[in-house]
Order: sequence, then C-alpha cells, then structure tokens
Amino acid sequence: MITKNIQLDEQGRLKHFLSIEGFKRQHLISILDAAEPFANVQEQAVKKVPLLRGKTIVNLFFEASTRTRTTFELAAKRLSADVLNININTSATKKGESLLDMLHNLESMHCDMFVVRHNQSGAAHFIAQHVSPHISVINAGDGCHSHPSQAMLDMFTIRRHKKDFANLKVVIVGDILHSRVARSEMHALTTLGVSEIRVVGPKTLIPTGIDTFGVHVYHNLQEALVDADVIIMLRLQKERMQGALLPSEGEYYQHYGLTEKKLAYAKPDAIVMHPGPINRGVEIASSIADGPQSVILEQVTNGIAIRMAVMSQALGPGGSDSSRTGVNA
Ligand code: CP
Repeated sequence: MITKNIQLDEQGRLKHFLSIEGFKRQHLISILDAAEPFANVQEQAVKKVPLLRGKTIVNLFFEASTRTRTTFELAAKRLSADVLNININTSATKKGESLLDMLHNLESMHCDMFVVRHNQSGAAHFIAQHVSPHISVINAGDGCHSHPSQAMLDMFTIRRHKKDFANLKVVIVGDILHSRVARSEMHALTTLGVSEIRVVGPKTLIPTGIDTFGVHVYHNLQEALVDADVIIMLRLQKERMQGALLPSEGEYYQHYGLTEKKLAYAKPDAIVMHPGPINRGVEIASSIADGPQSVILEQVTNGIAIRMAVMSQALGPGGSDSSRTGVNA
C-alpha cells in the first residue's frame, strides 16, 4: 500500500499522485474544488492560464491510451507548461536502455514531472521512489492497480450531476478483477462517503477479498441496478486475462451488457458512465452510450480540468492550496 508520506511533501502538499489510497476526504475535495475554475476555463475563448509557465512535463506512456494521454497533454499545455511526449517505440529503450537510465537522462534535461502509464502494477510508485526529489510523478494507470486521475474525473462528473455523495447508490459493472479504474473508484467513493457501492459481474471477474473495500457484491445485473443513481460500466480487459474467464462476448452482453431494458431498473435520473474505450454491443448498447443518461464524453472533458488541478497542485505556486489556482471560479 502506498503511504501518505510518498504522495505528500513535508508541508502536506501534493507531491506525487500515485493512488487514491493514502488521501483523506479533504485532499480529494481539494482536487475537485481546484478543478472547478479549470472547467470554466475550457469554456472560454482563451483556454490557457500561466500557472506552470517554465515547467516541463514529460508524458511516458508504455501502454496504449487515447483519453488519458491527450487530456494530460492538453491540461499541461493549458497550464502553459512545456510538454514532451516520449514515443516509447522509437526511444533508446529499444536499444536496451533501462527505464531508470532513461528517466535519469530526462531528469538531466531539467524536467519537473513524469506522467506515467505502464502495464506493470506499481510502476509509477517504483519510479517515484527512484527519481530526483524535485520530480513529481503522476500515475496515469499502472496494470490492474490504480488510475487515480480517472477516479477523480469520475468523482468530479458525479458531483456535477448529483451534488452530494452521501446518499448515492453507485453500481460498478463488469470486469472488476482487471480494472485499475474500479479499484481507484472504490477507494474514492468510499473516501467521499458514498453510502452504497455495488459491484456486479461474473464470479470469474470479481476479485477475491473484494469485501475489504466495503462494497456489496452482485452477480445479477438487474438486481444490482435497482434504484441506482450512478452506473459505471467497465470494458472487458482481455489483454490482462489469462485463460478463459468468459464463455463468449455474446453471453456476457446478454447477462452484463447495459441495455435499455436493464437500465430501467435504475432511477430515472441515473447517469451512465464509462472510462472508455467503450466496446459497443459487448458491455453497453449503443443506444445507452449515445443516449440522454450517458455522461461518457463529459467524463473525457472533465479529465482536462481534473488533470490541470492535479498538475497545478503538484507543481504550481499554491501547492495543495486550491484557492491559488490562478483562475477565477
Ligand atoms: N480511460 C482511459 O484510461 O482511457 P485511455 O486508455 O484511452 O487513456
């Protein structure tokens, strides 16, 4: 487990963002509050603020990404930072250079932050422990472990629609076993005081020990959806599956795919979320993904504001003080 000390500096300000674990409610609320004015910046003709002028942020994506990589890049640029996108496939790691040697070379160029996605759980944590003290590390998804900025943009989206976390029934559907998003969501929802978190999926895709998260486990989607306020659909992470965990995609869709008929069990104003990428006709019907209750593309938009908040708290002049974001709410 990642400790508070690694992610916060001596003054209690955000240093690294590696995992939701180790943060208290007030830290998460501070990130959500800091993101509000940045969300407003997105609506303006000039979408930039000068908060991170002179800082250099390096995107290190060892695994495929569309949303996370581009929104981290946009967020950094909208904070006026310089951004380097390292193409791992054309980097000297292909000539045998080790990860740490690559990082030390990037450090010598006076970079300030590494945004890291890696298929190995714990990679961002490992990097944070080995880089120079002035470098901040942001975990952009590590294996099945954690995707903290995704969880925070999802919390931001939920708060915009539901205002208060306390009385919500939130349902997380699908491949919980391989989902770093589900793990980070469960930590974030619990920390923010959500009263009822339900996870639902086939037995083969629910991890053992999930009860330690304080969630209710279901294997029947209709039952899990009754009176739900928020439904978070997950992709089947086939790239992480070892062996046959599912009979077929068709059968999976029949039992766990979100269709209009199944959505009717939730509250009429329930919102439908998905971190993406979505697989239409596997975990979600197109009519739901594109329908009035879907906030899937809003999640993507909110990712920019949340990532601006996280980066500015780690590198900006105000540290973790959300009142010093450089823009007016
Ligand atoms: N949600 C998410 O992590 O999407 P990408 O894999 O496209 O970054």
